[in-house]
Amino acid sequence: MDSLAEYYAKRAAEYERIYAKPERQADLATLRGRIGKIFKGKHVLELACGTGYWTDVIAGTAAQVTALDLNEEVLAIARTKPNASRVSFVRGSAYEIPDLGRRHDALFAGHWWSHVPVERLDAFLAHAVDSVAPGAMLAFHDNRFVEGSSTAVSRRDAQGNAYQTRKLDDGSTHEVLKNFPEESELIQRASRHGWGAHVDLLPHFWLLTWWAPK
Ligand SMILES: C[S@@+](CC[C@H](N)C(=O)[O-])C[C@H]1O[C@@H](n2cnc3c(N)ncnc32)[C@H](O)[C@@H]1O
Repeated sequence: MDSLAEYYAKRAAEYERIYAKPERQADLATLRGRIGKIFKGKHVLELACGTGYWTDVIAGTAAQVTALDLNEEVLAIARTKPNASRVSFVRGSAYEIPDLGRRHDALFAGHWWSHVPVERLDAFLAHAVDSVAPGAMLAFHDNRFVEGSSTAVSRRDAQGNAYQTRKLDDGSTHEVLKNFPEESELIQRASRHGWGAHVDLLPHFWLLTWWAPK
């Protein structure tokens, strides 16, 4: 297993503290409303679902949800959420999505784009588009860098990836790849893999949507 996956397995029990930050509450309320609305009645494939914070929001309005994550530690928490009985949880990699029959007409990933190395993004997006029905809606949401709220970037590599040094409750420290793409880059990337790319910019988060080719 790679170091990112190991880090999130260890962090499972403390993960949802990111959703308790007071300065993020207004944005999170806006996003919960938008995300619930855009997936209403859809058959949704969620990648890297983690502890199921967004899975639960989506399952509240979607027709069906399949939620995938590499780590059993986070899936165990996701299965305890109120709408979990309406979700099929699958253990697997976002880079090698199992054959799910291409029945999903929507795809979502929260706080995942930022962890995909820039040199892997196009291959990952092509694979994501290939894993859902033609004409499906794709939506990704992630953090914007906010001074004083976000963890500082500790270094950048030759490809332009940013890294943060993060500490867990057990005292261990981890270098985590975490990118903060500009709106123009999001539109450009998505437009290579479909049409109608749109970014909602909130003070702390962005939400990118587009449609797969038909
Ligand atoms: C930042 S968390 C996002 C969790 C959730 N989507 C959210 O927004 O709260 C990243 C998640 O990616 C998962 N992960 C790491 N590598 C993965 C991979 N190759 N495929 C699928 N999930 C992976 C981790 O287990 C973790 O749950």
